Amino acid sequence: MSLRCRNVDCGCVLRQFFHYLRNMDTQQTPQERIAWLSAELNRHNHNYYVLNMPTISDRDFDMLMQELQQLEVQYPQYASPQSPTQRVGSDINHAFEQVEHIYPMLSLGNTYSIEEVAAFYERVRQGLGGASFDIVGELKFDGTSISLIYKDGHLQRAVTRGDGSMGDDVTRNVRTIRTIPLVLQGDDYPPFFEIRGEILMPWSTFEKLNEERERAEEPLFANPRNAAAGTLKLQNPSVVASRGLDAYLYYMLGDGLPSGNHYENLQKARQWGFKVSDTMQVLHSVEEIKAFIDYWDTERRNLPVATDGIVLKVASLEQQEELGYTSKSPRWAIAYKFQAEEAVTRLNSVSFQVGRTGAITPVANLTPVQLSGTVVRRASLHNEDIIRSLDLHIGDMVHVEKGGEIIPKITAVDYDSRTQGSEPVLFVTHCPECGTALVREEGEAAWFCPNVNHCPPQIKGRIEHFIARKAMNIDSLGSETVALFYERGMINNVADLYTLTVDDVAALKLQGRKWAQNIIDSIAGSRQVPYHRVLFALGIRYVGETVAKRLAAAFPSIDKLRDATIEELTTVPDIGERIARSVTEYMNDIDNLLLIERLLQYGVQMKAEESAVVAPVANVLNGASVVISGTFEHHSRDEYKALIEQYGGRNVSSVSGATQYLLAGANMGPAKLDKATRLGVKIISEADFRRMIGEISED
Ligand code: IVH
Repeated sequence: MSLRCRNVDCGCVLRQFFHYLRNMDTQQTPQERIAWLSAELNRHNHNYYVLNMPTISDRDFDMLMQELQQLEVQYPQYASPQSPTQRVGSDINHAFEQVEHIYPMLSLGNTYSIEEVAAFYERVRQGLGGASFDIVGELKFDGTSISLIYKDGHLQRAVTRGDGSMGDDVTRNVRTIRTIPLVLQGDDYPPFFEIRGEILMPWSTFEKLNEERERAEEPLFANPRNAAAGTLKLQNPSVVASRGLDAYLYYMLGDGLPSGNHYENLQKARQWGFKVSDTMQVLHSVEEIKAFIDYWDTERRNLPVATDGIVLKVASLEQQEELGYTSKSPRWAIAYKFQAEEAVTRLNSVSFQVGRTGAITPVANLTPVQLSGTVVRRASLHNEDIIRSLDLHIGDMVHVEKGGEIIPKITAVDYDSRTQGSEPVLFVTHCPECGTALVREEGEAAWFCPNVNHCPPQIKGRIEHFIARKAMNIDSLGSETVALFYERGMINNVADLYTLTVDDVAALKLQGRKWAQNIIDSIAGSRQVPYHRVLFALGIRYVGETVAKRLAAAFPSIDKLRDATIEELTTVPDIGERIARSVTEYMNDIDNLLLIERLLQYGVQMKAEESAVVAPVANVLNGASVVISGTFEHHSRDEYKALIEQYGGRNVSSVSGATQYLLAGANMGPAKLDKATRLGVKIISEADFRRMIGEISED
C-alpha cells in the first residue's frame, strides 16, 4: 500500500489519512471544500506561527495544502488571492522593524516519496535539455530560516523569512549567536552578499531549557524548532544570548560569488567563518540520491540538531538559472521530508495531574504501543484547548507522533472508527485531589487549583522542589519519604523540615537511626546553600534557576526582595511584568511571609554572601568554551559547570569548531569524542582540569 496515494476515491489511503478523510464530506461542493480547507489551513498557520503550538503534524498539513492547491487548479474560479496557497505562513512579529528582502525568500517544493524525487530528477534532466548535471544533497535543518547580509565582511542585517517578501529585522538578537560570524575571515569574499541558513536550538540545549521551564511551571516548547523561533523573537537580546542558539548556512546569493557552483561557494563560506554542515555531498544519479536519503533517515538521530528531511539542489548556478522558478519555489531544488514517527493506538482514559503550583495537566492514558524504539503509554494533552480542538472521545483511535518532541503527542483522531455514544473528554471542573473548584485566569492556557496551602500534591510538590539537587540539595530525602512525613503529619511545609529530630525520623523505621541521622544531617547542611538557590527553592511561580540568580544579584537579601515594587523588579534584566507580578504576589501573602520568617530563624541563607557576588576566582580559563561529557569522580557535573564559570570559562553543551576543551569523564559517548577529535578540540581529563584550576598540584 502506497502511503502517498492521493486519489481520495481509492481504498488504499485509509490509515494515513483517517483524519483527512473524516473531513472529506461527500456532500461538499468544490467551492465549499475550498472554503473549508482555506479556513482549516489558516487556523493551523496561526497555531504554528503565532501560538507556536501546532495541533497537526507537518505531513497532515502538507496533505491539506496539496488538496487545496489541486482544487484551485481544477476550479480557478473559486481560488481567492487571499488563499493560504498564495503565501508562505507569516512569522511577522510587530515588535520588530519590518524590512524588505533583497531577493524574495521562497520555500521549497515538498515531497514524502522517492518516486517524486526521481520525477524531480527527470524534470531537471529534461529542463536542461539532457545536459549532465550534479545534485548537492543536504540535510533539511528543522529550525527557523534567516537571511544575513554582509557588507565588506561585516554582518549588516539579519532578517526572518516573514511572509517571503518582508521579514522582521532581528539583527540584535542574531548578533548574540556565537556561530554566526560578525566579521569574516580572509579577504576573498564579495563586498556585498547575502547568505541564508537555519537558526537552530540543539537538542541538548532544548532539553535543558524545557527542564528549567518545567521547574518554573512555564509552558514547555513543543520542539526545538518552536524553541528556536520563539527565542529569536524575544525582545531582550541578553536572554537570546543565554539560550545557546546555533546556525547552519546553506545558500549564498549575490553578485561576484566566488564560484559558479553552489557546493564550492559553501566550502568558501566555511573558510570565511560560517558554519556549513559537513554532511552535504555532491550526488551524480538517482541511485546516489536514494542512498543519501536512506543513510540520513537513520543517521540523523545521532546529530546534535533536529532535521526533518533532505534538500536536493542543482549544483551549477548557471543551470539553476536556466531551470528558473515557479511563482513559489525554485525548479532547481526540492525537499524530501522524512516520515514523522507515528503510531495508532487507543485512548483509554485521561488523567488530570496537579503540579506543585496547582496547574492541572491532562495526560492521555493509551494502550501501550511501540514508537521509535520505546513503548508509549501516555501522551501529554497540554491543556483544555488542545483537547477541544482534537474533539477527543474516550475509546478513540488516536495518532501518536514523536517528531522533534520528547513527550509524544496526539496529532489526530480517527473519527471514522469512533464507537457511537462514546463519551467526549471533558476537562475536570474541580481539583481531582482536594475537590476545590478550579480557576482559569485570563490569558492562561492552564486551569489551576487555588487551594495552595491545603491541596496535598501542591504541598508535597513544593517540598519535593525545595529539597531537589539544584535547590536545597537535601539528597538523603526522596519523594517517598517526603510523602511519608507529610502523611504522618510530621511536616506541612518546607520550614517544618528544620524542626525534625533524629528520634522523630528514626521512629518511622525499624533500626532506622543511621538513616534518620543522615536525613537530619543533610537538612542541617542545607543551611549553607546560597541565597539564590534558596530563592529558587521557594518555588515562586516563574522563578527558575536563572531568574533566581538575577533576583538575588539585584536584591541581595530577602528583605530587599520583599520590599521591591513591580517597577523596580522589571528594571532587572530578564524580569518582565509576569515574573514581577508573581514575585510581589508571593511576597504579599501572609503565609509565605511567615514561612520565610521561620526559615530565617532556622538559619537558612536569606541574603547573598559577599563572595557569591564577586567575579571569577581567577581567570585561568580566559573565556575558553568547555564541553563536559561523561561522569566524574571528584565533583558532580554541576560542580564542574560552576568551576568552569568561576575560573573564567564558559560551559557549552555541544562540541563545535569553537569549543576549546572537552572535559572528558568516564563513559562518555563515542560520537562526541569522535567529533571533538575531528574538530581538533583539546580533550582534557578530570585530573588535567583540576590541575588547570590549581585544585591539585602540577605533578
Ligand atoms: S534551501 C530557494 N537548504 O527549509 C532555496 N532550505 O522550504 C531556499 N531549510 O524554510 C532554501 N534546511 O528554512 C534550503 N539545507 C537547506 C535547508 C533549508 C532547512 C528550510 C528553509 C526553508 C525550508 C524550505
